[in-house]
Amino acid sequence: MSKKILILPGDGIGPEIVAEAVRVLNCLRTDFGLDIDLDEALVGGAAYDAAGHPLPDATLELAKEADAILLGAVGGPKWEPLDISVRPEKGLLGLRSGLGLFANLRPAILYPQLADASTLKPEVVSGLNLMIVRELTGGIYFGRPRGVRELENGEKEGYNTLIYRESEIDRILRVAFDIAQKRGRRVCSVDKANVLECTELWREVAIRVGEDYPGTELSHMYVDNAAMQLVKAPKQFDVMVTTNMFGDILSDAAAMLTGSIGMLPSASLDENGKGMYEPIHGSAPDIAGQGVANPLATILSLAMMLRYSLDEPALADRIEKAVDRVLDQGLRTPDIHAEGAREVGTAEMGEAVVAALRECD
Ligand code: IPM
Ligand code: MG
Repeated sequence: MSKKILILPGDGIGPEIVAEAVRVLNCLRTDFGLDIDLDEALVGGAAYDAAGHPLPDATLELAKEADAILLGAVGGPKWEPLDISVRPEKGLLGLRSGLGLFANLRPAILYPQLADASTLKPEVVSGLNLMIVRELTGGIYFGRPRGVRELENGEKEGYNTLIYRESEIDRILRVAFDIAQKRGRRVCSVDKANVLECTELWREVAIRVGEDYPGTELSHMYVDNAAMQLVKAPKQFDVMVTTNMFGDILSDAAAMLTGSIGMLPSASLDENGKGMYEPIHGSAPDIAGQGVANPLATILSLAMMLRYSLDEPALADRIEKAVDRVLDQGLRTPDIHAEGAREVGTAEMGEAVVAALRECD
């Protein structure tokens, strides 16, 4: 039976980069026998403009029916004045919680061809290959109570709640350990257990889960130290696992180690391996519509989709090899441009990946 894939281009550069990923998907369909059905829907600011809400019911329904979802990016200055409840970001958060996508995998890999793009010294980052596993449907992002209230003296007070149940911590730790078992067998759990009770519990559960994985080393790090270690000696890490907000922050830092946020994919998975796949970067409104955005993070997100949701690891490998090949050929979008490279636009990069896909074996 063919697999259903929902395409959510979103805002800013989203439609441009997603179009190149769809080009790759179509090539896999025609040349490599991938049996898929594509559907498309609105999310984010584009959905707000068309339907008055960043996550229309119709989009959530289609997302629920799909086997996997490919998302471009959401947001932009145009929608910043809107009330927080209908901002484009709410569309993304609604998809994550509505679909139970609790496990966010954010690999940070340095491509040797791009070693010079990092702001860190090459010896600090060369060979970097770390995986951040971020909890995505709990913690302070979703905790209640939340809001802004007025005190008796008329002063306003804003508040959010950091909250995790044992079961939520347990399941994300297991995802991290399962991944570590297929990599370097080291998990670093990041918390703030010296200050926050909630993450004291996180550490307790991490230790308990770790006992089920005797072949894998578990270490713990406070989040402030983890931020420092990430820029000081990032290669010490194999898999990092952490809360929703700490993961949000640390994964941006990790992305920049590779010098090019335009290269990094991500996967957000539910209990059954259904997932939403998206580049880590945002909607980049400053370059939207110019045809210069880097489509590689979105194309690499497709590779993750093939591996984690569609059970097509050979095709996933093929996409990754094709990306490697176009970098070897010296093709660069402006964000990763370097001396001596050939600067190309979004579509030319997508076409080059398709050509490389057909050549790779
Ligand atoms: C991310 C983004 C989102 C987040 C925003 C757009 C809501 O920063 O995916 O990391 O904070 O999770
Ligand atoms: Mg973020």
